[in-house]
Amino acid sequence: MRTETGPVFRLEDYRPTPYAIPVTKLDFLLEPTKTVVRATLSIERRPQTPPGTPLILDGDALQLVSVSLDGRELGGNSFIATPERLEINDLPESGCFTLEIVTQINPTTNRQLSGLYRSSGVYCTQCEAEGFRRITYYYDRPDVLSVYTVRIEADRDAAPILLSNGNPVESGAVEAVAGRHFAIWHDPHPKPSYLFALVAGSLGVVKDHFTTQSGRAVDLAIYVEHGKEERALYAMDALKRSMRWDEEKFGREYDLDIFNIVAVSDFNMGAMENKGLNVFNDKYVLADPQTATDADYAGIEAVIAHEYFHNWTGNRITCRDWFQLCLKEGLTVYRDHEFSADQRSRPVKRIAEVKLLKSQQFPEDGGPLAHPVRPRQYSEINNFYTATVYEKGSEVVRMIRTIIGPELFRKGMDLYFERHDGEAATIEDFIKVFADVSGQDFSQFALWYDQAGTPTVRASFSYDAEEASFTVALSQAIPPTPGQATKKPMHIPVAFGLIGPDGQDLQPSSIEGGMVRDGVIHLRHAEETITFHGIHERPVPSLLRGFSAPINLVAALSEHERRFLALNDSDPVARWQAMNDIFMQALLDGAKRTRDGYSPQVDNIVTELVGRVAFDDAIEPAFRALCLTLPSESDIAREMGRNVDPDAILASRQHLIGVIASSHADRFAAVYDDLRQEEAFSPAAAPAGKRALRNVLLDYLSLYENDPARAARQFGQADNMTDRAAALAVLVHRFGDTQPAHEALASFEQRFGHDALIMDKWFVVQATRPGENALDNVRALMEHPLFSLDNPNRVRGLIGAFCASNPTGFNRKDGAAYEFFADMLLSIDPENPQLSARLLTSLRSWRSLEDVRREHVRSALARIASTSSLSSDLRDIVERTLA
Ligand code: ARG
Ligand code: ZN
Repeated sequence: MRTETGPVFRLEDYRPTPYAIPVTKLDFLLEPTKTVVRATLSIERRPQTPPGTPLILDGDALQLVSVSLDGRELGGNSFIATPERLEINDLPESGCFTLEIVTQINPTTNRQLSGLYRSSGVYCTQCEAEGFRRITYYYDRPDVLSVYTVRIEADRDAAPILLSNGNPVESGAVEAVAGRHFAIWHDPHPKPSYLFALVAGSLGVVKDHFTTQSGRAVDLAIYVEHGKEERALYAMDALKRSMRWDEEKFGREYDLDIFNIVAVSDFNMGAMENKGLNVFNDKYVLADPQTATDADYAGIEAVIAHEYFHNWTGNRITCRDWFQLCLKEGLTVYRDHEFSADQRSRPVKRIAEVKLLKSQQFPEDGGPLAHPVRPRQYSEINNFYTATVYEKGSEVVRMIRTIIGPELFRKGMDLYFERHDGEAATIEDFIKVFADVSGQDFSQFALWYDQAGTPTVRASFSYDAEEASFTVALSQAIPPTPGQATKKPMHIPVAFGLIGPDGQDLQPSSIEGGMVRDGVIHLRHAEETITFHGIHERPVPSLLRGFSAPINLVAALSEHERRFLALNDSDPVARWQAMNDIFMQALLDGAKRTRDGYSPQVDNIVTELVGRVAFDDAIEPAFRALCLTLPSESDIAREMGRNVDPDAILASRQHLIGVIASSHADRFAAVYDDLRQEEAFSPAAAPAGKRALRNVLLDYLSLYENDPARAARQFGQADNMTDRAAALAVLVHRFGDTQPAHEALASFEQRFGHDALIMDKWFVVQATRPGENALDNVRALMEHPLFSLDNPNRVRGLIGAFCASNPTGFNRKDGAAYEFFADMLLSIDPENPQLSARLLTSLRSWRSLEDVRREHVRSALARIASTSSLSSDLRDIVERTLA
């Protein structure tokens, strides 16, 4: 394993490889601790490469057995092999040759979960970004595309299922060795090494079929642990819906005869789009009403779609280099967002996206780990699978669509597929298709890929009744970020409306200054003033409708105007935002008063507004649930920005919940009873929305009643996991020391204690219980037989949830939890650096804490940084966090 921060890689240093590898044959002899890999590579010197140029392939922790050139085994002085590199100097004059490399690897001791490893005994691979070099020496980079044929040989009993990319060619018994069998797979589509996959083991399967638009019959299969087949049916349904949707919305058909998905229980990320053989974290496959919440169902649908959509945006067109990661990730997130919006409620989905962006990406963009959507340098690529690349990357694609409109956007996407199919492309290629179809200049827009930091747009307004004109003054500012002190103004599409007193948008007779088209202000300068004429009544301006750009908007509106927007805006996202802004102001005031030793005060305007939304049956329940959910403690901390005291924030939030609940208790109770589900459980969006609303009300009511009885009743009667988990959260978080809370935890464990994935919810709910005792509870839970520092889902469920989602418990004032966290990271890091590095990012906003806590964090970070033999992953994060 690499232990020091390695070299820094820079975008400007990109060069194509001197050789191509048009054909790759891999032969695996699978054994638990001694797997032999024979790679037979057809290699061609590229036309521009001078003869005599050495061939230098990547490796990572590899043990070379032998290397042969055109059938002759090479002696020790004709090559240089280290675990990280294979260099061959004496190559045939012709430039075309066959290289055979034999390596030996140990899948059982591979706990990094990168390369070939075993999960519950099943052999599986994860090669993105640089895991393939842990299997064999190769050009392990995305711009080297090759046609793969893979032969897998293994024990028939241990591994009856043998899978790889592409289509099956042949399988059977190995004559020479009793009990062994083999399978051969061929993938006709040239692909980079990061899309290679192999799975071998004993697995249950669910099968289905899909016929594409043009009539291709595709066999679908989802492989899971034996006995869990039923829990893969929803994922299968989501897969078929995704395949149809991509045909209808993007004209993209599937291109092999078979599509396999395998769920494994040890996985660093969500899932992986390997060609024809997606490998998934089982969290994103397994669901049934008793074990999965509505959020789990939505997550499965989204990730299944995401990986499937990568077949075109990622696999058919891949990335030239890892700096272009957002080319496939941002675009594919955009596509899965649109899919979910079409399958569910579009406004509710959009608000969920905005919440995620603000809670995950904004803090990243505003802290020490800020980086552009397309970074220009990295020292560890695994640390760039970030909210910025994924979520902001998706917002950038959405803005392109907003700027040129849906028809031209589709035309541009068609051109992208036509022009770049089979290539490893760049962001410049992507932008150019939209410039070409629209005739517009995207050079300023391209700054979205290069400038880090969340722009702040300030808006002020004036109305001239005599002239019947309304003026909007806008300014933009982008804060400095690491390595980027000054920024240029960006092209920010601000969707807007001017709402008249009757709630209808007013139409100006003419517009002066600035560029305004189809309800969008295109802000392109540091400051712009736009005057709308023919506005005969004073309007309330609604800006950033649909959250049309990933910015912080600071609009000079009165509380009255915000309330008007919350009740009247025709755009649901802006409506929700207005509600949220009103809550936020009350919460910030409350936290400040608490910190200064006063008790919080809440204006009637807030409680009255809540009632108007909560009891409006014309609004869909899921949207009401979102509007009634107060900003989280982390949201409030982020808004505060500095001198953050998590205890004051919690107190303020509890106070507001209490005030709202006591103003509406009776009617909340009536709505709660009314929403009781009568029909059989369905995970569909509409019934899920009712559950969401009911469970928000459960929390308000329980706090008001100061009694666990209602939640205990719901827990006992629940026929689905959403209602059960919501009741459990209320019991543990609000009444954690009472008998009903203890009983509910015990009954949950009794029922689900055999299944670690389901028990993750039990760990999370306890890890996120607010208050000083959380750390002791977490320590105690680590002794639970199901807990393991070895499994990423367990670690994220207990330690990750504690650090990222328990502000008061984690930030206890004596700093003990920071030291605990450092200890955990240092023990995870030697085993699984991707996991330790990812966990540490939860400290990215440490500088905004008040002094005492901030100094505790600083010393915990310093202790990590001063540890020798850190992984390059963790070292990169800790150094940037401290910088
Ligand atoms: N391409 C995968 C996805 O977006 C993510 C894999 C990232 N893996 C990693 N080890 N960094 O679905
Ligand atoms: Zn992806």
